[in-house]
Amino acid sequence: MTEKRSPLPTLQGPRIRLRPHREDDLAAFFALYSDPEAMRYWSFPAWTDIAQARDRFAAALLSPGVDGTHAWAVAGADDALIGGLTLFSIDGAQRRAEIGYALQSAHWGRGYAQEAMRLAIEYAFDALRLRRIEADIDPRNQGSCRLVERIGFVREGLLRQRWLVAGEITDTALYGLLQEDWHRRAQQT
Ligand SMILES: CC(C)(COP(=O)(O)OP(=O)(O)OC[C@H]1O[C@@H](n2cnc3c(N)ncnc32)[C@H](O)[C@@H]1OP(=O)(O)O)[C@@H](O)C(=O)NCCC(=O)NCCS
Repeated sequence: MTEKRSPLPTLQGPRIRLRPHREDDLAAFFALYSDPEAMRYWSFPAWTDIAQARDRFAAALLSPGVDGTHAWAVAGADDALIGGLTLFSIDGAQRRAEIGYALQSAHWGRGYAQEAMRLAIEYAFDALRLRRIEADIDPRNQGSCRLVERIGFVREGLLRQRWLVAGEITDTALYGLLQEDWHRRAQQT
């Protein structure tokens, strides 16, 4: 019997929303992943040709798709795509997943990422019933480290030379957030 997956929901925050991708997001999607500043610590180099967007954009349109990846568009007040937030490597038996996120650099520094993360994490722990979320971050990526620490992720270790991107070998700071920690913090605030 094949498992029936729920469609990707729209999650509404005060200033931003997480919503499914739409066909007319392609230009903004490409703009995000071709922004060298936003891709500085990413797992692949900034795109230079819109053809490079094709496979990833097609998968985003089909999300949650066959592997269950939840790929949301982060949208601002006018509903245009300004970023992406993805729950991936979702392991239903272990009830854990990884989280990835990026905003176009023009939108940094306003708390949008924190708002987007809180919406996705709430959904992951409550609706998907996950119990652990991991973030794999280049330790030099201070903005990302600060973001997850602010939310309550714990830096659990350093994985040496884990990535090779555009000829550069880099480490991973592995962060983890447990459902029990998230709920305990929610009760304290
Ligand atoms: C990481 C990223 C998503 C942060 O987005 P953002 O919307 O600017 O983050 P927020 O405004 O919600 O900030 C959250 C916290 O991180 C801090 N922060 C954000 N960027 C920072 C930076 N460059 N240096 C230091 N702190 C930073 C903020 O001050 C805030 O902390 P505070 O609440 O104590 O003030 C954004 O910089 C980005 O898209 N980077 C490129 C993609 C990327 O590297 N993704 C992560 C891959 S692991």
